[in-house]
Amino acid sequence: MAKDIKADMKRNIVQITDNIYWAGINDRKSNLFEGLWPLDKGMAYNSYLVIDDNVTLIDTVDSGFVDPFFEKIKYILGKDRKIDTLIINHMEPDHSGAIGRLVSEYPDIELIGSKLATKMLDGMYGIKENVKSIKDGDELNTGKHSFRFHVTPWLHWPETIMTYEESEKILFSGDAFGTFGALDGGIFDDEVVYEQFESEYRRYYSNIVGKYTGYTQKALNKLQGLEVNKIAPTHGPVWRTNPGKIIEDYHKWSTYTTEKGVVIAYASMYGNTTQVVDLTARLLSEAGIENIKIYNTSKTHISHIVSEIWNYKGVILASPTYNMDLHPTVEALVHEIKHLGIKDHILGIISNSLWNNAVTKILSKFSEDIGWEMVAPPAEVKGTMKDEDFSAFKELADSMSNKLNHLYENGSAAMKH
Ligand code: FEO
Repeated sequence: MAKDIKADMKRNIVQITDNIYWAGINDRKSNLFEGLWPLDKGMAYNSYLVIDDNVTLIDTVDSGFVDPFFEKIKYILGKDRKIDTLIINHMEPDHSGAIGRLVSEYPDIELIGSKLATKMLDGMYGIKENVKSIKDGDELNTGKHSFRFHVTPWLHWPETIMTYEESEKILFSGDAFGTFGALDGGIFDDEVVYEQFESEYRRYYSNIVGKYTGYTQKALNKLQGLEVNKIAPTHGPVWRTNPGKIIEDYHKWSTYTTEKGVVIAYASMYGNTTQVVDLTARLLSEAGIENIKIYNTSKTHISHIVSEIWNYKGVILASPTYNMDLHPTVEALVHEIKHLGIKDHILGIISNSLWNNAVTKILSKFSEDIGWEMVAPPAEVKGTMKDEDFSAFKELADSMSNKLNHLYENGSAAMKH
């Protein structure tokens, strides 16, 4: 039986529906996700407990939070009930970290996931017993609830699936439709201000899932026929009021649909490159570009810059020459853009060099490799800005703004090639 919600409030237990509970954990301890991505606003690891004739858990939490997680699920279940089944939508340890303890606590539990997930169970935790792999379209009935499995690989690892609960039309989506950021009281989309999460949703999508945009599109197409009342992801708020919003954003992001604007990412050792970046930004502004976002790669983590690039069509990269190469922080950004294979942008290059113009060569090659059109020849400066350098920066800003004005002449944010 579901507990009385007032009693549950004492333990911060949240019901998604009558018999489905949020058993998630907020992580405000970790500085980085995957040892890489800053968690400025923390992170939520969502797990869901379904009380039915058979008790089902959907995903678990990071291994650093196993004790409070079990305290929560044991409170919901009471002393005598056990968990019959674990559905594994995703094996990354931020969701599988409690499986070892789960198997110790409930030795008869059946672990269900994709074929690859069951292999990973062995690889990661040495678990081979009571493991069942599902195929696309398989069903699990637990009494009143019926779960249909949809194989949706590469969201975000190759083994990922989504689980659709048919009686209440809830999509348990794994990493998809999730975000960085802890849940500060609000658990549902209608309890939080989306705008305060939006950039973190996009930073999460672009950096974590964005390499696999083709698979995101495949998954969205596959799920198109489903009536979805709620989306319950493994990170961030549960979408119970407006799940269409995040599906719409995923369509936008996974088709590289960008807005009119320019991201200028630069490094500057002694301020000279900063000077020409500010000049270029001013020229863009005078040419009517309103969204101009400047980031110093020595200061801002590349995940935030990548997220902004995902949102705006124009990109200008500016670097001093460093040991006959790009400045290492610009190089890291360029590497990440190539690694993610970000498509459909237009590029401007600013190169600063006293004696070896490696930046122009390297970024021109980058433009070819990534397939981003260069809007103008690289604007070059040798050390400090001179009067004779101005025309190159003017040409860069004019070409970028003209191109953007042309692409967005109807004011549309739709993808333009
Ligand atoms: Fe939330 Fe791919 O793990």
